[in-house]
Amino acid sequence: MEKNIIIGGAGYIGTVLIDYLLKKNKQVICIDSLIYKNRFAISSFKKKKNFKFIKADLRSSKIIKKLIDKNTNVIILAGLVGDPITKKYFKLANSVNKVGIDNLLNSLSDLNFKKLLFVSTCSNYGLSKTNKLLDEKSKLNPISKYANDKVFIEKKILKLKKINFCPVILRFATAFGLSKRMRFDLTINEFVKEIYLNKSLEIYDFDTYRPYCHTIDFARAIDAVIKSDNKFVYKECFNVGNKKNNFQKKAIVDLILKKIKLKKNNIKFVNKSKDRRNYRVNFNKIEKKLKFKTKYSVNYGIKEILKYLNQTKLKNKNFYGNYKI
Ligand SMILES: NC(=O)c1ccc[n+]([C@@H]2O[C@H](COP(=O)([O-])OP(=O)(O)OC[C@H]3O[C@@H](n4cnc5c(N)ncnc54)[C@H](O)[C@@H]3O)[C@@H](O)[C@H]2O)c1
Repeated sequence: MEKNIIIGGAGYIGTVLIDYLLKKNKQVICIDSLIYKNRFAISSFKKKKNFKFIKADLRSSKIIKKLIDKNTNVIILAGLVGDPITKKYFKLANSVNKVGIDNLLNSLSDLNFKKLLFVSTCSNYGLSKTNKLLDEKSKLNPISKYANDKVFIEKKILKLKKINFCPVILRFATAFGLSKRMRFDLTINEFVKEIYLNKSLEIYDFDTYRPYCHTIDFARAIDAVIKSDNKFVYKECFNVGNKKNNFQKKAIVDLILKKIKLKKNNIKFVNKSKDRRNYRVNFNKIEKKLKFKTKYSVNYGIKEILKYLNQTKLKNKNFYGNYKI
């Protein structure tokens, strides 16, 4: 039976992916060092017979190597994720996101298995001055440690030689949507929560564009890559998202305000720059090559988070995010 090893599976996207694969009766091994004390996020999977959890660091490659056989896919999601957390814990981010993943790749390079999926980010496009939609061949312009390390690993993957597995790079748009390990530090999730609570919200770089994508669509995309013939994906890089979900921050706020009626809101559009990333992305390659199309709109995501906030009646004050370790 095919085995899927998900490194960083207890995180925001990982738990949605595990849920998705288990519902399809696939076998999943989740490896995670639980840096956010996020064991709670995988507790509901523990009863499932196709699920196994191993608490381990991706830098312990010996443990990971032992689990791999010829029927294995390895999906790398783990790391310190996002600009703020990588700035805050710069040394650790370097040791995990750059050195750790590089060493892991080297140690796996003599093994024979199915696919290796490295989850990268559209943040690699960084600051784009063009109005054109960027594709996988567009020039990268990473402006953070987080994105620079992703670019470094992408290059390493493309240089791997004499390997007996199929490496694939996926550049994810910015995620939104529900997860067992919520992240309220991501733009859409954060804006919905803050506006719902009518908190004071400062929005900087409000006219910058970015593409967004629902967590379930990421799980669907990973499944599509796993199922695809190697000849379509070997050492290929795919943007994952939908061009309809390229949004300016201001437009997201407008959509939210249509659903949350406030007499007076506390939103301030600030004319200062905190995060200059600005990119609009094209997702034609994954649509054409793998016949993959996303299902969920930004509007859907806003409604979903709102429903969650209404249902929990804010009793659950655990507004998780990648704030601190
Ligand atoms: N969330 C997004 O908007 C987004 C966008 C683009 C790309 N991505 C990529 O998707 C992946 C998952 O992101 P996420 O939002 O689920 O992040 P997350 O922070 O929720 O999950 C990361 C997981 O990795 C684990 N981890 C951290 N260091 C580890 C280590 N040394 N060994 C083992 N496990 C470790 C953490 O405990 C956590 O469970 C990342 O690679 C990220 O770069 C995410």
